[in-house]
Amino acid sequence: MRISNELNAAFNEQIGRELESSHLYMSIAAFVDGLALKKFAELLFKQSLEERDHAMLFLNYLLEVDGNVAIPSVAAPRSDYKTVEEAMRHALDSELDLTRRIEELMTQARQQNDYSAQQFLTGMIAEQREEVSTAENMLKVVRQAGERSLMMIEAYLVHLDL
Ligand SMILES: [Fe+2]
Ligand SMILES: [Fe+2]
Repeated sequence: MRISNELNAAFNEQIGRELESSHLYMSIAAFVDGLALKKFAELLFKQSLEERDHAMLFLNYLLEVDGNVAIPSVAAPRSDYKTVEEAMRHALDSELDLTRRIEELMTQARQQNDYSAQQFLTGMIAEQREEVSTAENMLKVVRQAGERSLMMIEAYLVHLDL
């Protein structure tokens, strides 16, 4: 095993958080699809798959350093959204929380002089910067459209060619 027990356990926890995030986007996508915002829903379902990919990156890292993979149980996501703005606010908060968690992993890796983990986490921090920016932009677009004109988001997304 080329990773400390402590960091190994923390990586497993992060696998759980990424899967939780995947379920969160899946839940929001279903809510948005229910409002017939198909393009927006498609984007969110795609985001859900990306979160699963993040879980796989942590899992594959553990395999590469001969660590132990132990996937934790995943809590159910919320499914009681009243508005799209509320749902997207929740997605942004979740991304900000994930960023903090990954930064904590980086702190741990630095304390242990685990340079390989630091190199891996640097990539994940860059990914989070992109993720936060995307969630923030989507929240801005939802706010500007307003709940009564959400159909405008569909046109906006077609224009972006997403
Ligand atoms: Fe993620
Ligand atoms: Fe994310």
